[in-house]
Amino acid sequence: MQREQWNSRTGFILAAVGSAIGLGNIWRFPYMAYENGGGAFFIPYLFAMLTAGIPFMIMEFSLGHKHRGAAPRVFAKLGESLGFKLEWLGWFQVFIAAVIAIYYVAIIGWAISYFVFSITQSWGTDTNSFFFNEYLQLGDNSPTKLGSLQFHIAIPMAIAWGITSLAVFSGVKGGIERASKIMMPLLFIMVLLLIGRIVLLPGALDGLNYLFRPDFSMILDVKVWSAAYGQIFFTLSVGFAIMLAYSSYLPEKSDINNNAFMTVLINCGFSILGGIMIFAVLGYMAAEQAKPITDVVTSGVGLAFVTIPAAINLLPLPYILGPLFFLALVVAGISSHISIIEAVVAAVIDKLAISRKKAALMVCGTGFTVSMAFSSNGGLLLLDLVDYFINNIALLTSCLIELIILTWLFKIADIRDYANQCSEFSVGKWFNLCLRFIGPIMLAIILIKNLINTLR
Ligand code: PHE
Ligand code: NA
Repeated sequence: MQREQWNSRTGFILAAVGSAIGLGNIWRFPYMAYENGGGAFFIPYLFAMLTAGIPFMIMEFSLGHKHRGAAPRVFAKLGESLGFKLEWLGWFQVFIAAVIAIYYVAIIGWAISYFVFSITQSWGTDTNSFFFNEYLQLGDNSPTKLGSLQFHIAIPMAIAWGITSLAVFSGVKGGIERASKIMMPLLFIMVLLLIGRIVLLPGALDGLNYLFRPDFSMILDVKVWSAAYGQIFFTLSVGFAIMLAYSSYLPEKSDINNNAFMTVLINCGFSILGGIMIFAVLGYMAAEQAKPITDVVTSGVGLAFVTIPAAINLLPLPYILGPLFFLALVVAGISSHISIIEAVVAAVIDKLAISRKKAALMVCGTGFTVSMAFSSNGGLLLLDLVDYFINNIALLTSCLIELIILTWLFKIADIRDYANQCSEFSVGKWFNLCLRFIGPIMLAIILIKNLINTLR
């Protein structure tokens, strides 16, 4: 069976960008930057992008392109060439992707609900109590029951699963590429419209000032550097089977280095847009409520589902800007969710040699069932734990193992040669240096730090 292929270079880049740009850019990046030195965070962030993000992306694109397989096959082939078994590393990554898929879709579901609520701001004035007590039903008097379906949460989640499965089911060209070509331009337009309106509001510029004003006293803090590296791996979707699967559908003649640079730069550029959007809103809200901005900034789910709704209440044209914001969140989330599911589906197709349609039905059916079981409030509590473990430990472990095996057991220079042969411009020796030394050292430090924090 001929392997499927992307229809065009733009199509591939939009799909890769669709995976990279996700919930992480719109709400994780802004508060990470804020918490880690504001404008000064850009220095470690850009350093991590150059020394880890770009080289890692080039490496994954090369491996997928060369070995034409999802993660398990790529690693199995690499292992064979050295005479040992490595397929497990691919399955470990696929497993991480599958776990992420389950909770990522829950957040997309919330965003779909909030898209509807935002039309009339039906969250009322106490957005905190609305989110936690009424919507998620996590209040004191609602007992935690695992497995009891809550339709107001389950139905939007089912819609998200529906769109994802349709895209993956319809194939690389006809599904994923087509969806990305609609979703990505739409996302950029929506975010630019939002920013265009919001920065004109009183106080918005003070918000931006807060985000971009550098606090250089933090720049030598390990915590800041570890946040920057963690954010880069998460935001670029590298290290968990996704970019390997996507690049395995690249046509023979593809410019690897160029594609990797484009994907990384567009994603990181979009993060800055996300930061501008969120902080302009927060600045406006602080001004309206005559509070210091530090009183209105929140992190985690509270930012998107408590603080932003409260800000929308205060905005002019809330019934337009509100839905626009949540639709942007939904689009960003679904295009990433598609890529997570494709990483799993591609691995199943490779392994069982079954058709895409069968594999997609199998994977999405299982995923849907599991996420339904976890849609109750008991599941939501679990989700928090899983999220912490995946982001802070599993993902970094997987990246570290991948780097060490690839750069110390294999000749990393070969991967660089391969990427350069396929590309119009070449990457220099810095590529080897980053992947062999800087990347593993930084990852190891962060991982050890996270493990210590977890055990404490
Ligand atoms: N890169 C995505 C983001 O920034 C996150 C993501 C995680 C994407 C897992 C795919 C899989 O939100
Ligand atoms: Na991202």
